[in-house]
Amino acid sequence: TAPLRVAMLGCGVVGTQVARLLTEHAGELAARSGRPLEIVGIAVRRTGRDRAATGVAPELFTTDAEELVTRADIVIEVIGGIEPARTLILSAMAHGASVVTANKALLAQDGPTLYAAADEHAVDLYFEAAVAGAIPLVRPVRESLAGDRIKRVLGIVNGTTNYVLDQMDTTGAGFAEAVEQAQALGYAEADPTADVEGFDAAAKAAILASLAFHTRVPASAVYREGITDVSAADVAAAREMGCVVKLLAICERTADPAGGEGVAVRVHPAMLPRTHPLAGVRGAFNAVFVEAEAAGELMFYGPGAGGEPTASAVLGDVVSVARHRVQGGRGPGESSYAELSLLPMGST
Ligand code: HSE
Repeated sequence: TAPLRVAMLGCGVVGTQVARLLTEHAGELAARSGRPLEIVGIAVRRTGRDRAATGVAPELFTTDAEELVTRADIVIEVIGGIEPARTLILSAMAHGASVVTANKALLAQDGPTLYAAADEHAVDLYFEAAVAGAIPLVRPVRESLAGDRIKRVLGIVNGTTNYVLDQMDTTGAGFAEAVEQAQALGYAEADPTADVEGFDAAAKAAILASLAFHTRVPASAVYREGITDVSAADVAAAREMGCVVKLLAICERTADPAGGEGVAVRVHPAMLPRTHPLAGVRGAFNAVFVEAEAAGELMFYGPGAGGEPTASAVLGDVVSVARHRVQGGRGPGESSYAELSLLPMGST
């Protein structure tokens, strides 16, 4: 049978692992998908680098992403950021490709445009890797719990800040020192702003709230406070009280003051008693509680970042969209959105 043509956009930490696993596990992935998956190209900013770790032939690397997306059945976007990712994804869909992306910033800012394009061109848009790395969270919220009514999503969705706060708690280190350690271990980026200021967690919270409450929550509507003002003294004081400081993302249904239904979404540091299950989440791990009316309380836990864990989520999506290609049909499209008020923090 003819292979499905897979194009990759980006070949960084996650992309390298995706390419390697696609190559190494080609047989199994073909069996699970129903057809072989053939990498037809990987778009990168510069060719000529040593990319042996991908296991992909050097001639498949290209700097012409615009051309690459016109000849694929499945496009995997792991560039990150808004542009050129957005234009390339829209072009890929217009050319009939299903898209798998890990791009939380783009989904949080412009999700509705992408969902609408996927619907218009009858292709899949899957993004399990955009929230909490390897942890299956998007699919459970989007699909498994589609018959329930989610009341609250609460948890730790940024591994870097959890590592930093954990270091401060266990070693007494100050914020700057703990960030340096996180950078040395490759958790925090050279510019840690997106993580420590809570932008990354806010984007993930916006995506989760939109899916959980079938509404549209842009990242700009999320109340956001990072961990840059958390001092060694704060952490020590929390410790004295039997607590730990964690950066939490909280998405809740609330009543708005006018009597309608509202949604409140926020990211901020919080003190948790050491006995709380989230207090035990160490290092760069993530953990999320989902509370639904019928299901009750569910907890999701695992590695929230890193090349291989994130690649696992990407490949799961690739197999799903490949199956849809083989069998016909597609996964969930744009849900019918409810108009819920977005309440600023403090109004509840
Ligand atoms: N920078 C993110 C984190 C990883 O530390 O959790 C990717 O989402």
